[in-house]
Amino acid sequence: MQGGDDDSSYAKNSEAPASAISLCRPLLLTAIQSMKVFFRNKEEAQSLRIADLGCATGYNTLATIDMVVDALRQQYMSQCGFEPEFEAFFSDLPSNDFNSLFRSLSNPGILSDKKTKQYYAAGVPGSFYARLFPRGKLHVAVSLSALHWLSQIPDAVLDKRSAAWNKGRVWIDGAKKEVVEAYAKQSEKDLEDFLSCRKEEIVQGGMLFLLMGGRPASQQPKNQLGDPDSRAKHPFTTSLDQAWQDLINEGLVDEETRDGFNIPAYMRSTEEVERAIKRCGGFEIERMEYRSMEEHSQEKQKQWMRDPISYGRAKANLVRATLGPFAEAHLGPYLSHQLFIRFQNRVSSDIALLHKTCFYGVVCCVCYPNVTQIMKTFIRVIESYSHLLIIQDNRL
Ligand SMILES: C[S@@+](CC[C@H](N)C(=O)[O-])C[C@H]1O[C@@H](n2cnc3c(N)ncnc32)[C@H](O)[C@@H]1O
Repeated sequence: MQGGDDDSSYAKNSEAPASAISLCRPLLLTAIQSMKVFFRNKEEAQSLRIADLGCATGYNTLATIDMVVDALRQQYMSQCGFEPEFEAFFSDLPSNDFNSLFRSLSNPGILSDKKTKQYYAAGVPGSFYARLFPRGKLHVAVSLSALHWLSQIPDAVLDKRSAAWNKGRVWIDGAKKEVVEAYAKQSEKDLEDFLSCRKEEIVQGGMLFLLMGGRPASQQPKNQLGDPDSRAKHPFTTSLDQAWQDLINEGLVDEETRDGFNIPAYMRSTEEVERAIKRCGGFEIERMEYRSMEEHSQEKQKQWMRDPISYGRAKANLVRATLGPFAEAHLGPYLSHQLFIRFQNRVSSDIALLHKTCFYGVVCCVCYPNVTQIMKTFIRVIESYSHLLIIQDNRL
C-alpha cells in the first residue's frame, strides 16, 4: 500500500476496508465476549496480547486495536472487576509506512477518538505467511482486508512459455483456466501457511478473526467479483485493462510488459477458506460468513454522477493507493504515473459504468484454536468421572 498521507495514500483511501470493518464489527465483538477470561484476579494477571496482521497505517489501523482492546477491557471489568494490561502488535510487510503509524501512535488524538493510548504498542515487520511471534504468544489475532493479497504471483503465470501466461490481462477475473488454477493453488498454499503459523502463535482459549476480500460461494474462481456490474466496475478490471491498452497503443509499453504485470490478489469463497482451515487443522470454526457491501454510499454515487471528473480522480487515487508500489516496481515512476492518468481518464469518461452499482464482497471468519486430541480425551474422562461423582452424591 502507498504510505504517507497525501491524496493517493492508503491512509486517505481506506473507506472500503473501513466499511468492511463496520460490517463485521458485531461478529468480532460477539467472538471476544464469548472468549474465556484468562486471569480471574489482578495479582495473577499478565498482559493480554493482541496482533493486527496486515495493519497498514491510518484511521482503520488504530480503530481496529481500539475496538479489540475496548471489548476485552469491558469483558474483564464485568466478569473479573479489573482491567488487565494490553500489548498491541502492529504487523505488516517491512515496506509498510511504520513511520506514519508510529507517529500516530505517539499522538493518538490525530486518528483515534481516544485521547490517550490504552495499550503498550510494538511494530512487527514481516510477512504473515511466515512465523511472526513465539509459540503461544497471542491471545487475539485479527487480520482485516489483507489476506486476499497473495505472497507472490504464481510462478507459472510469470512464465512466458507456460499455458498460465496471462496474455492480455493484468488480473484473473475472466482469465483462462490455467491462470485461474495457478492463482487458486497459490491462494490455497498461502492460506494454509498463514494458518499453520497462527496455530503455533495463538494460545489455547485465544481467538483468530479473519476478514478478507471474498466472492460468493455460487461463483467460480474465474468470477472473482460476483455479479457482472461489480465485475465490470471494479478498479482491477475494465478501466485498468483499458489504461494498459492505451499505453500499448501509444507505444509507451509493449504487450509483453503488460502481460508480465499481474495483481497478486485472490478473492476466496467461504468453501475455500473452510477447506484450508480443515486441512491445516488446529482451529475450530465458530462462524463464517460471506457479506457484501456497496462500493460507496448512495449519496456519494449521486455526487459523482454529477461530477465524473472527481469520480475518476477518486478512483485513480484508490488504485494508486493499492497498486501504486506494484506498478512502480514494474514500470518505474514515469510510466506508472502515465498508467494511472490513463486510468483516471477512462473512469471519468465511462458514464455508463459510473451509473452502475458495484458491490465488494468479504469473507469473515471467527476461529478458535481447538484443544488437542489428548486434551479432548482428558476432558472426556473428567466429564465422565464427575458424572459418576454426581451419581454417588445422589445416593448419599
Ligand atoms: C488493504 S490493507 C488493509 C489494512 C487494514 N487492516 C485495514 O483494514 O484498513 C492490506 C494490508 O495488508 C498488508 N499485507 C499484504 N500482504 C501481506 C503479507 N504477506 N504480510 C503482512 N501484511 C501484508 C499490506 O501491506 C497492507 O498494509
